[in-house]
Amino acid sequence: MARLHVIVVGAGIGGLAAAAALRQNGHQVEIFESSHFEEEIGAGIGLPPNAVKILKYLSCNLEELHCVPYEGVVTFFANGSEGLPQTLHHIARRFGENWLLCHRVDLHAALKNLACGASVPKSTNAQMSGPPAVLHLGKKVVDYNATLGAVTLENGTVQYGDLIVAADGIRSACRSILPGNPMKVEPSNIAAYRWMVDRSIVKTHPELDWVTAGPSGPKIVTTADSRVLIVYPCRDGKLLNVLGIHSDHGQDGKDWNRPATQAEVTDMFSDCHPQFIKFISLAENIRLWQMRCTPVLNAWVDGSIALLGDAAHATLPTFGQGFALALEDAITLGVLFSSESAAINVPERLKAYQLLRKQRAEYVAGQSRDQIIFPTMRGLFYRSPEMQQDIMGYDARKVAETFFQSIPS
Ligand SMILES: Cc1cc2nc3c(=O)[nH]c(=O)nc-3n(C[C@H](O)[C@H](O)[C@H](O)COP(=O)(O)OP(=O)(O)OC[C@H]3O[C@@H](n4cnc5c(N)ncnc54)[C@H](O)[C@@H]3O)c2cc1C
Ligand SMILES: *[C@@H]1O[C@H](CO)[C@@H](O)[C@H](O)[C@H]1NC(C)=O
Ligand SMILES: *[C@@H]1O[C@H](CO)[C@@H](O)[C@H](O)[C@H]1NC(C)=O
Ligand SMILES: *[C@@H]1O[C@H](CO)[C@@H](O)[C@H](O)[C@H]1NC(C)=O
Repeated sequence: MARLHVIVVGAGIGGLAAAAALRQNGHQVEIFESSHFEEEIGAGIGLPPNAVKILKYLSCNLEELHCVPYEGVVTFFANGSEGLPQTLHHIARRFGENWLLCHRVDLHAALKNLACGASVPKSTNAQMSGPPAVLHLGKKVVDYNATLGAVTLENGTVQYGDLIVAADGIRSACRSILPGNPMKVEPSNIAAYRWMVDRSIVKTHPELDWVTAGPSGPKIVTTADSRVLIVYPCRDGKLLNVLGIHSDHGQDGKDWNRPATQAEVTDMFSDCHPQFIKFISLAENIRLWQMRCTPVLNAWVDGSIALLGDAAHATLPTFGQGFALALEDAITLGVLFSSESAAINVPERLKAYQLLRKQRAEYVAGQSRDQIIFPTMRGLFYRSPEMQQDIMGYDARKVAETFFQSIPS
């Protein structure tokens, strides 16, 4: 059995998913993460059906995620009237899995356990599985060498790997080292206020019934000029995740994720019905996130180095597909570096990875951008069952396996 020594840079949800997929295929993984996870902020995250499918392939225990199912969305106009339905019918039947809503901290913990936990899930082939991945916190990677298959840590040490996965997020330093890639991530001029609020607090205010009534899932308030307030439950319904999306010009130079005040948010939605203002008045610990998407890249791979997750394809959250794409990347690596193959030519396999993933991610990321930026394209996803099938009905493992079986090993 070919056991590779894999280096993963970044222990975000993308890096941990990659570590889990590679570990489960027999490889020995080391993860270098610059932070100490002291700043982990709470936020909800949607898991569309194509993501849930892969979490199951990774034997993730979904119970641990305390998910809430997305059963329907209720929309409102700024004046408080209910708006046009924007509903995805029969999600599980059409796409094979449900759409689930969870908390990032729970997701991070579950993935970390799959990658680094002492035991492997019963459902995975324990014989095939590699040792627990080793997570090094507070270890920043400052340089890469694709020829040597090496990364340099901030403390000066050089670490060698047969395969190096750079999952270092939207501000990836690795991305611009790969040949022909642009240096900069342009502003999208769109930003989101984000915060969380306890459902129990909302329940004490009768005028906030609109938040908790109706089917389990998002409530979306849209103004005539496309400011959007999105509220959805997570963590067994006990917490509500809120996004206040709006245009934000002059983004360069500012902190990409800065603390914000309640007054700012109130001001932003001041023309909305009092029931929405009341809801905003419960907000605490608000942050303003600049939403950015990576430009189309020239290369995702070079020698034994590959980009994964937001480093390769940071995506606007239009369809909640950012993390789903990272999971697709991860399971694709798992298949391409399957432990059943005798000898592995890493650069060749990574060329296949780029072939399988780049176009797909560019399509989803491109649509996520265009359907926010161009007014005529807004809501196209909800009107197009074909596009929904393309995006949410995708089975990245199946695609990779079909491809893999077709090449001589
Ligand atoms: C407002 C907003 C809402 C979103 N909502 C959704 C949603 O509902 N559904 C969805 O699927 N996606 C959503 N996303 C996208 C999703 O959050 C990202 O796609 C996902 O977090 C990317 O994970 P990642 O591991 O690639 O990157 P990150 O989570 O950014 O992780 C990168 C990690 O690398 C570390 N790192 C960076 N540089 C170095 C270095 N040099 N050395 C060592 N470590 C380093 C960082 O500390 C970090 O831990 C949303 C994003 C935003 C901004
Ligand atoms: C609220 O606004 C919508 C969209 O502008 C409009 O169609 C609707 O009639 C308004 N409702 C009330 C009660 O004014
Ligand atoms: C990688 O290492 C090789 C061998 O030491 C060296 O020749 C090359 O310049 C290095 N590449 C980079 C980009 O540093
Ligand atoms: C640098 O960090 C690595 C990884 O944790 C460690 O093995 C090494 O001993 C450190 N080197 C120095 C000089 O501190």
